[in-house]
Amino acid sequence: MFRKLKIKFIMTNIVSLTIVLLMIFSGIYFSMKYWIKFQADMILNTIARDEKLSSDYNPSLVRFFFVKMDPYGKTIGSDSDITISEDDMETFKDLALKREVTTGNIINNNYKFKFLIVPKGYGSILVFLDYSVEEVMIKPLLFISIFISLVTLTLVFIISIFLANKSIQPIKGSWEKQAAFIADASHELRTPLAVVTSNLEIVMENETETVGSQKKWFGNIQSELERMRKLVDDLLFLARADAEDEFPKDYFDLSGLLFKICDSFMPLAKKKGLALTLYNKDNITAYGNEFRIKQLITILLDNAIKYTGCGGKIHLRLESNATMYQLSIIDSGEGIPKEHIDKIFDRFYRVDKSRSRAYGGSGLGLAIAKCIINEHKGVINIISEVGKGTEVTVFLPVE
Ligand SMILES: Nc1ncnc2c1ncn2[C@@H]1O[C@H](COP(=O)(O)OP(=O)(O)OP(=O)(O)O)[C@@H](O)[C@H]1O
Ligand SMILES: [Mg+2]
Repeated sequence: MFRKLKIKFIMTNIVSLTIVLLMIFSGIYFSMKYWIKFQADMILNTIARDEKLSSDYNPSLVRFFFVKMDPYGKTIGSDSDITISEDDMETFKDLALKREVTTGNIINNNYKFKFLIVPKGYGSILVFLDYSVEEVMIKPLLFISIFISLVTLTLVFIISIFLANKSIQPIKGSWEKQAAFIADASHELRTPLAVVTSNLEIVMENETETVGSQKKWFGNIQSELERMRKLVDDLLFLARADAEDEFPKDYFDLSGLLFKICDSFMPLAKKKGLALTLYNKDNITAYGNEFRIKQLITILLDNAIKYTGCGGKIHLRLESNATMYQLSIIDSGEGIPKEHIDKIFDRFYRVDKSRSRAYGGSGLGLAIAKCIINEHKGVINIISEVGKGTEVTVFLPVE
């Protein structure tokens, strides 16, 4: 797929450049040709008028001869600045008269002449101008044009290969990322589906049993379905973020929101034996999407609770200054090893896959958090030490 795209890119460059070069060089070639023809006609006319070469022209470049004729076509005089015998002059005169036109080209032996017949008082004058000079000038131009075109096309071909590789790289990267994302998502969905299927099979095998007696299996099915619902919601969110769907923003009471979230997490924290404390001095009003900010805080607080063992402490702190507000979630949990910190924002990335799965995590929480922070033009910073805890700080601009 990428090979085809690369070839297409290179071919488009080469074809468009060939068209441009053809237009430039054929333009130069034909205008030169026309200009030389125009000059030759001028010279022929002035020689016919003056019966000599005007001083306006360089005698070393203009090679001519003329034959003066009486009204019956008999030669009555001639002049030449090239070495040509009288007999040859007569042959050219006869050839020109035979053509029965007043101007044209004659090629004979090694001569190439352009001629013009002009009536005169004594009869007429037949002027011949050597136009091999034209070819001498035009031919190198043609060769130079072809040479320049070939060199340019070769250079453009090489540059195109380099540029094609360079410009396809990010597309290739995101395509591979997308493919990996789909593979991970399918894998994540397969596990709960397998659990649901096996639990249903057990229920079906015991069809005479009551629902109450099979509560355990139904419970498993319910929790796996809940897990699937969360996963699908998360995937949908990320797909929307990739499509750059903007969230509507407005002013909202951030302090109040934080208080409510903290309140809703309190029973869970208590159940796990964790001390959850909130430091929220000011009444802070923030600008953004309230629903998304709630989702962001929930993700971070959920992590802090999930990855902190019994007896641990969790502090939530909200501060603000004139330009930004700062939300810190500090836990005394298991911490994150240094080498994982940069990767935990990647989709489906978990430090310990099986442990995180056991907590019901799929590794999308922080990827979603990062999307929400980016959408609000904020920054997230994580400091962590294994065995001591983690401090997550989110900086969001006031507006
Ligand atoms: N406060 C924390 N303490 C220790 N490890 C953490 C903390 N927060 C995140 N992590 C680590 O980072 C990983 C990624 O976190 P993330 O929230 O993206 O996924 P998850 O919690 O595993 O699943 P999900 O949030 O989708 O339910 C986690 O699996 C965990 O290993
Ligand atoms: Mg999480």
